[in-house]
Amino acid sequence: QKEGYRFFMEKEIYEQARVISETLMGRISADSIVLDELSPELLEGINTIKICACGTSYHSGLVASYLFERLAKVRANVEIASEFRYKEPLLTPDTLFVVISQSGETADTLEALKIAKAAGLKTLAICNVDNSSIVRLADATLLTRAGIEKGVASTKAFATQVATLWMVALHIGALKGTIDQQTLASEIHTLLRTPNALHVKDGLHEKIHRLSKRYLHGHGFFFIGRDIFYPLALEGALKLKEISYMHAEGYPAGEMKHGPIALADSGLFTIALMPQTLLYEKTKSNVEELSARDATILAISPKPFDLADDFIQTGDHAHPMSEFFEMMLITQLLALEVAVRLGNDVDMPRNLAKSVTVE
Ligand code: M6R
Repeated sequence: QKEGYRFFMEKEIYEQARVISETLMGRISADSIVLDELSPELLEGINTIKICACGTSYHSGLVASYLFERLAKVRANVEIASEFRYKEPLLTPDTLFVVISQSGETADTLEALKIAKAAGLKTLAICNVDNSSIVRLADATLLTRAGIEKGVASTKAFATQVATLWMVALHIGALKGTIDQQTLASEIHTLLRTPNALHVKDGLHEKIHRLSKRYLHGHGFFFIGRDIFYPLALEGALKLKEISYMHAEGYPAGEMKHGPIALADSGLFTIALMPQTLLYEKTKSNVEELSARDATILAISPKPFDLADDFIQTGDHAHPMSEFFEMMLITQLLALEVAVRLGNDVDMPRNLAKSVTVE
């Protein structure tokens, strides 16, 4: 059932444009978001959103925290479920507790949900598997409709989580009146065009295959970005380390000079996420600092960057989320191609299980 692809992960990367369309279907009209699953009672009196998840789902939660505060003007924070469980968290009734999980069976996320419920919080699950333990327990669920994900390295589930959370942010912003009608219509316009950013353009996969040979024998990778591109950097690094077994870290671009830049030399591979719509000049100057220390730079940007050793040009998008999805696709293909060149089993990476049902 790989339908001609070498790996399920590869097939799932290519499915992303379609599954995003399915995730949006019936939930968006020309000028409003229609999320019947989110009842007025669920959102009444909510001033804070606390998100809890693990792994890739935690990264989509981090993206959502930016979107909730920026678009819906609701205080939002994110916690790793295994940390949240034992920290004796202070929970207040004005908090909507959101868990994010592809499988709906992750032990730590499920336990975090139980803690929130026991504290009397209203709860929402963003989940890909209907009737899973998490879905059964949460007060409300938004299904991500990614379809079955077989690759241990999550790709399409992440894409649909981010799209769903973006919809939730817009929905809450519209309800609270923090997004004006014109902005809402423009956000919806961009959201509906997300599948375009996820189509694998002619020549892109081949180009990434070609340049991946430079990235096999360094002493590590740094993925760097700012704002929502910081969680994308974390996710890019997680994807790469899961299937290539190479050391990779995601970092906020502005944090490099606070320590990690000490690692910079030609064996340090830097994947620089340089969108044009968010903090381009700031990110560029961080990348220049790394280049000055001889780091090998792969720049992903719509704007050509002279100091890059390799450059992947993205489309001329006007919205950060469109840039986000195209760069996400590129980092997934890069992880795939590096892992394939290293001869690894992409779908069944060593030491990992698809669903982590023990803590
Ligand atoms: O099923 P979940 O979304 O709750 O799983 C959480 C993590 O175990 C999962 O995202 C893991 O990090 C993936 N292997 C990432 O590719």
